[in-house]
Amino acid sequence: MADTYKAVEVSAPGTLRAVRRSISEPGAGQVRMRVEACGICHTDAATVTGIYPGLNLPRIPGHEVVGRIEALGSGVSRWKIGQRVGVGFFGGEDGVCEPCRRGDIVNCQNPVIPGVTVDGGYAEVMIAEARGIASIPDELTSVEAAPLLCAGITTYNALRNAGLRGGDLVAVQGIGGLGHLGIQFARHMGFHTVAIGRGREKEKPAKDLGAHVYIDTAVDDAAAVLQRMGGARAILATAPSGGAMGPLVSGLAARGKLIVVAVPEDQMQLSAFPLVFGGRSIYGSLAGTAIDTEDTLAFSVLENIRPMIETVPLEQAADAYARMMQGKARFRMVLVTGQ
Ligand SMILES: NC(=O)c1ccc[n+]([C@@H]2O[C@H](COP(=O)([O-])OP(=O)(O)OC[C@H]3O[C@@H](n4cnc5c(N)ncnc54)[C@H](OP(=O)(O)O)[C@@H]3O)[C@@H](O)[C@H]2O)c1
Ligand SMILES: [Zn+2]
Ligand SMILES: [Zn+2]
Repeated sequence: MADTYKAVEVSAPGTLRAVRRSISEPGAGQVRMRVEACGICHTDAATVTGIYPGLNLPRIPGHEVVGRIEALGSGVSRWKIGQRVGVGFFGGEDGVCEPCRRGDIVNCQNPVIPGVTVDGGYAEVMIAEARGIASIPDELTSVEAAPLLCAGITTYNALRNAGLRGGDLVAVQGIGGLGHLGIQFARHMGFHTVAIGRGREKEKPAKDLGAHVYIDTAVDDAAAVLQRMGGARAILATAPSGGAMGPLVSGLAARGKLIVVAVPEDQMQLSAFPLVFGGRSIYGSLAGTAIDTEDTLAFSVLENIRPMIETVPLEQAADAYARMMQGKARFRMVLVTGQ
């Protein structure tokens, strides 16, 4: 076996370049994966631009990683060589901070984050923490599973943890990597599903993915349309636009929730009125843990939910990343390593 592997790293802010790295042995509690597929998430922008707090360059981005285990570190008993596994944004908890000690490990204050605190999946090989990986079911190919490891789990967890009931009016704002999966999860969880996009072009794909109703914010006020429908019990905000998020609060029913999963660079503008009069709320939701990933994958198999993807060889990561940032991906770019 070669003692080096191909990877694409951020060498300086804004620069993705192909490199060769030396293969190293996994440490205690780690596994080494031979990567088969890695999705390109919008959050990778925080690595590529170098703005992620505490990030040190060079760094290999990528946190929607599927591969096969090829080496086990000491003390790893749960996983086997040859097993197909995946790792998402949440790559492992420290186990000692206050949220961890309270059992809230997804909010660990010192988490392992592939592509941020450690090298990620834009590579042929990746080392992951054994406690942060999920088993991939045979029904899913590696390219299908990859986007479910961040875009999928984030939208699935946000929706399933929102205290919703079957038939509730639920809107998904933004029809990209997260949103196109959020629409499918909302529909398959039994919600009256509304997709909110900008432009007519997203109407057909949104309805094909399961939206009952499409709101085009280029011509309609999303909050007004939702109010005419009785008000949304929840709106899942996936579009990275703070400006577009705040006004959605007025589209919520009394006690409705704006669930923020996008992390826009611009500030959210909010009016206190709809929050106070009607007891509406806003909160954020961060990806999920490895066992949540396994739930996401199982639900996707059960309900036949699949991401819509475009696959690209690892070597073309920079072009694929640019395509995602330009909003041209339909709807997730997935890097493949030719294994
Ligand atoms: N909470 C978490 O754990 C978590 C996990 C993953 C990602 N994220 C964050 O979630 C966001 C989305 O990620 P992604 O990978 O889905 O990005 P993406 O694939 O680039 O999709 C974003 C979509 O938002 C749409 N959009 C942008 N502005 C809009 C607006 N004003 N109104 C309606 N739609 C708008 C874009 O559509 P057009 O430009 O074509 O209109 C695009 O399709 C990012 O901020 C990312 O960092 C958070
Ligand atoms: Zn992500
Ligand atoms: Zn912790």
